[in-house]
Amino acid sequence: MMSRVSRRCAVALLLIAAVGLAGASCTRAPGPPGKAVVRVGFAQIGAESDWRRANTESIRSEAKARGIDLVFADAQGKQENQIKAIRAFIAQGVDVIALPPVVETGFEPVLREAKAAGIPVVLTDRAVEVSDPELYVTFIGADFVEEGRQAARWLVEASGGAAKVVELQGTPGSAPAIARKQGFEEGLAAHPGVTIIKSQSGEFTRAKGREVMEAFLKSPEGPSITALYAHNDDMALGAIQAIQEAGKKPGVDILVVSIDGVRPAFEAIVEGSLNCTVECNPLLGPFLFDVVERIKRGEVVEKRIVTPARVFTSDNAAAELPSRAY
Ligand code: AHR
Repeated sequence: MMSRVSRRCAVALLLIAAVGLAGASCTRAPGPPGKAVVRVGFAQIGAESDWRRANTESIRSEAKARGIDLVFADAQGKQENQIKAIRAFIAQGVDVIALPPVVETGFEPVLREAKAAGIPVVLTDRAVEVSDPELYVTFIGADFVEEGRQAARWLVEASGGAAKVVELQGTPGSAPAIARKQGFEEGLAAHPGVTIIKSQSGEFTRAKGREVMEAFLKSPEGPSITALYAHNDDMALGAIQAIQEAGKKPGVDILVVSIDGVRPAFEAIVEGSLNCTVECNPLLGPFLFDVVERIKRGEVVEKRIVTPARVFTSDNAAAELPSRAY
């Protein structure tokens, strides 16, 4: 006979299948005896980068370790799929909904539906733009503007205040793409010798980063490029390939600075093709489920939880690499 929890899992799977979400799964680790199992719906963006995959792994493993019943949906990069997943979580009656919004705008109506159903929403990794801040409990994630400033600070110093920069932006309309651009431009404001000569989205993926960098290099401005700023490591790593294929030395002919701090970026720094990565911690599982447990205990949770970050270059990357967790 099917237990109550297995039945709930089956219902969740049916709901998610009904809204056409591929990759959705329902996992449940048994909680301690006598303790009510907490159900959390997590509407992940997709698997566009190494960062995102590490983030998913952190959410899944931490839920398992705490005996939390995680209903995980993979929105495959589409906002409409995230919205459908949230509606499915509401229909299922999860205890908490967690969401890294793929873009900043357009979530207000569905967040209102969650509020009306009395389900608290926790934003992880990315922010949303809403008229009513009460639509979510808290936002856990990095300070993306500061990451952009740190990348600019490094580049100004490394280039001696003179560089022609191409920029690979993240997903258009996403919080990290908007804020990392803003922070970088703020960081360059007092340094007129460092200018952005081209800027385009590489959609946070290696393949697109490579394709756009190839086009930058082939453009009339190509020969004058002396630096690349990528909003994530995956795009930088793709672009590094394009630079090599164009017969130039990444890290030497073209300085490369990016954001995330994933293991392949550390390897590239050690090998000399990447110069700097600004860390953005994807291991948000412990942060998220601490908050979920606090919500369940009825505690007041602070509106913003900022995850700490460090900057890595050839000075410190080799020492960090062996213990790098993602
Ligand atoms: O929102 C965080 C960003 O999303 C990471 O920097 C990027 O790699 C990911 O896809």
